Amino acid sequence: MKQNMIESLLEEKIGLDTAAIGRKVIENAIRQRMDRCRLTSLRAYAKILSDSNDEWKNLIEMVVVPETWFFRNRKVFNYLVHFVKDSWEPKNRGRTLRALSIPCSTGEEPYSIAMAFLDADINKDRFHIEGMDISEEAIKKARLGEYGSGSFRGKDLTFRDRYFRSKSHGYQLLEHVREKVQFKAGNVLKTPFAARAPFDVIFCRNLMIYMSPEARDRTLETMSRLLSETGIFFCGHAERQTALDWGFEAVHETGVFACRKRCRESNPKRPSVAAKRMSSKQQVPEKKIAPIRKPVVPVDFPSGRPIERPKPAGPEVGVPTSQEKADLFLEAREMADQGLLPKALELCQDFLGENPVHADAHFLMGLIHETFNNNDKAEAFFNKAIYLNPEHVEALNHLAFVESQRGNEEGAERLRRRAQRISRGTMHRAP
Ligand SMILES: C[S@@+](CC[C@H](N)C(=O)[O-])C[C@H]1O[C@@H](n2cnc3c(N)ncnc32)[C@H](O)[C@@H]1O
Repeated sequence: MKQNMIESLLEEKIGLDTAAIGRKVIENAIRQRMDRCRLTSLRAYAKILSDSNDEWKNLIEMVVVPETWFFRNRKVFNYLVHFVKDSWEPKNRGRTLRALSIPCSTGEEPYSIAMAFLDADINKDRFHIEGMDISEEAIKKARLGEYGSGSFRGKDLTFRDRYFRSKSHGYQLLEHVREKVQFKAGNVLKTPFAARAPFDVIFCRNLMIYMSPEARDRTLETMSRLLSETGIFFCGHAERQTALDWGFEAVHETGVFACRKRCRESNPKRPSVAAKRMSSKQQVPEKKIAPIRKPVVPVDFPSGRPIERPKPAGPEVGVPTSQEKADLFLEAREMADQGLLPKALELCQDFLGENPVHADAHFLMGLIHETFNNNDKAEAFFNKAIYLNPEHVEALNHLAFVESQRGNEEGAERLRRRAQRISRGTMHRAP
């Protein structure tokens, strides 16, 4: 068995798209596993793989990207609470809300859901949360509830004082939050899927960006099956368009990448996967921000400087407030998501005029120029984003893509490795 056969089997088993994480990452993972098994021949390692389910698990642990943190994209959790209190609760008196986080990685996402509900005074007996991930290692860590500094990012960390106890090497999540989440190891592609439907809330963020088109389709089919008719489905920034193309309906809230099922009347019969693939080959592609451009970690704009919050004093009429400026950036992103690229470019340029050192805005400019096939400009913007934030993993990955398009495979590989190191390094900070 050659590496590309192992890659095909990884795609079949867990949906992994080699291009999305880079062949080198898979090659390194195989090498490390061969070293652990004291093997020097790929053929011998392939033999072990074909005989042992455990070795597959070991290899899968090496290729998955467990990057996550508490309250990743805070707006999503604010919106979730608003949805539950204003929409779900009035229609579901006496019922228990059921939420699913898949993939949940090391637990930060489902625990954030629990903390958001507790902060909003939602009765702890009125919600039940499940977390699932293919990585058994991640699930073990999630159950432990011990976290290092890499799990706490962003400005507002007040939740840490409320829900964690400080330990010598990190933070321990308090029992009353831990007990609100049930964890299970599970593969989203496995049928019959282990989780019990229906769920009122599903988080499936930053999984499909690593998947092949077939695996994304299967994942979305599963999500649709698991989501209740009035439920809400949160995906990642770069994934929402895929969900909409598949047949979900957008929830129009800037910066919150949510969808719901289409109501039956307005749900046109979805074309079969094969038909869709056929027709997409025939169509001229729409100019939209490419949802995935070989990222090793999600394109979720997590790592730039924080967007300014409003200052208390009222501004002069016509002068934008900090909040308006922040909204301008969110609006630019939203426009880009919708494929309105000239408008997005314009808004983002305006925003940069006021905030010239905003790493994520430079990154967005890079994405837009990349979509326009304007590689020189894209490169300049990605470089600026990296200059402002040397750990901007997404910018590193996109720059790697630009380099590889130019035929500079060595440079591209260097950038990818740097991104991978940063991404793994964050994980290793956890105890
Ligand atoms: C980047 S993390 C996302 C965690 C969280 N949803 C977030 O956005 O912060 C991706 C996770 O997907 C998991 N994963 C990959 N393939 C999977 C599959 N086929 N089924 C379930 N989980 C999978 C990985 O183990 C990894 O923990």
